[in-house]
Amino acid sequence: MAEKAKFSSKIGLVAATVGSAIGLGNVWRFPAETQANGGAAFLVVYVLCVLLLGIPVMLAEFSLGRSAGTDAVGAYRRFSKHSPWWLAGALPVLAAYLILSFYMVVAGWTLEYFLQSLSGKLFAGVTAGADASALDGVFKARMQEYVCGSTGPLVNTYVLILLNLGVLLFGVRKGIERLSNVLMPMLFLLLVVFCCVSLSLPKAGEGLRFFFAPDFSKITPGVVVSALGQAFFSLSLGMGILITYAAYYPKQTRLFRTAVTVSLLDMMAAILMGVVIFPAVTSFGLSGAELEGTALVFVTLPEVFARMPGTQVWSALFFLLLLVAALTSTVSIAEVSVSFVQNRFGRSRRAACLIVLLPLFGLSALSALSFGVLSDWKICGQVFFNFLDTLATNIMLPVASILLCLFIGWRRPGVLRGELSNYSESDHRLQRPISFVVKWLAPGLILLVLIAGF
Ligand code: PFF
Repeated sequence: MAEKAKFSSKIGLVAATVGSAIGLGNVWRFPAETQANGGAAFLVVYVLCVLLLGIPVMLAEFSLGRSAGTDAVGAYRRFSKHSPWWLAGALPVLAAYLILSFYMVVAGWTLEYFLQSLSGKLFAGVTAGADASALDGVFKARMQEYVCGSTGPLVNTYVLILLNLGVLLFGVRKGIERLSNVLMPMLFLLLVVFCCVSLSLPKAGEGLRFFFAPDFSKITPGVVVSALGQAFFSLSLGMGILITYAAYYPKQTRLFRTAVTVSLLDMMAAILMGVVIFPAVTSFGLSGAELEGTALVFVTLPEVFARMPGTQVWSALFFLLLLVAALTSTVSIAEVSVSFVQNRFGRSRRAACLIVLLPLFGLSALSALSFGVLSDWKICGQVFFNFLDTLATNIMLPVASILLCLFIGWRRPGVLRGELSNYSESDHRLQRPISFVVKWLAPGLILLVLIAGF
């Protein structure tokens, strides 16, 4: 039987959970979504989504995980024996595994860019005075060359799988907790350094206005849908991660306080990232169109670094930040499957880590090569990487969150009530509004997001 691991300290468990939440979702997805959805107006809706919906749903996941003390599938089984509810736990475990497989590839890109920044290869032949379109061309070509290659993406993905394996083998306390305790403060420090650099740029004010001065007329149903999707992705909801990590929380941990701390820190990381990006974008005269998805991090930002003194140092530090964010997230999402295999099949931690991570050498390879040699292989009109992303992120995650809300809100409301108050005599003072959100508001709105996705 698997050992009952626990985080050893309050700081450690918050750092690990924040480590999971802060990932490429904050550094890369958040600024791109903000840009696409009207700037500050999106920020306002996003903040409301985190506070009003994200925190209650996070509490539902925490409650289920801690009270069951086991993996996501086991948690549903524990409270609903001999019923198909276990499928509601199997869904996030499967989604988490699929996400893990292609997120490893993106994490591999960040490693490549970090190494190329260090060696200077990324900026070879680039002059600071070059005009915007020339720089744009250079970095687009560089990204194309790397992403569409074979050996590069494959090797970096494999390195990331091995790094994850190393951390996970050390276990919850010595691996995940220790890694997060070191990397999370480092990530915030790097973010603050980048904010200072960005704020000293000539047109910083203009960028900050775009990010912080809302034009409420820009709030449309589409903006709300995007903000809710971003909030859930960023808080790692619906992936089984928070159920799994909460099983490692000691009984005396205050769940409400933990959820608020984790959500605020995650939001802070996203906002700091906005403060880094938008002044840089306005100061260097880059247009909004360039801020699309992947190109933002791998094309636009190198353009910015190329025009700054100390190009290589800033670029290397930035991609290191990205790598750190990606690593603590991949570890958390891999732990969902590791814990499942450990509990379900009674495997040792070592065996479970190998069972989970070794097949990724095959599955992640399909994603790594899907812009290169496998680019002609399409599923539902998309290359394998994009297909997995759409399937897991747009369909499986919202469905998993809805099922979780229904389970905790309607079928086992006592779990949330008890866990919130740590089983004291009186209820937590926010118990009623939190239950209302979990029962009605969250499942209803997530359903809308799901439908809108189609
Ligand atoms: N909250 C994470 C992020 O913002 O990147 C979501 C996540 C994605 C966690 C992928 C883990 C992961 F592998």
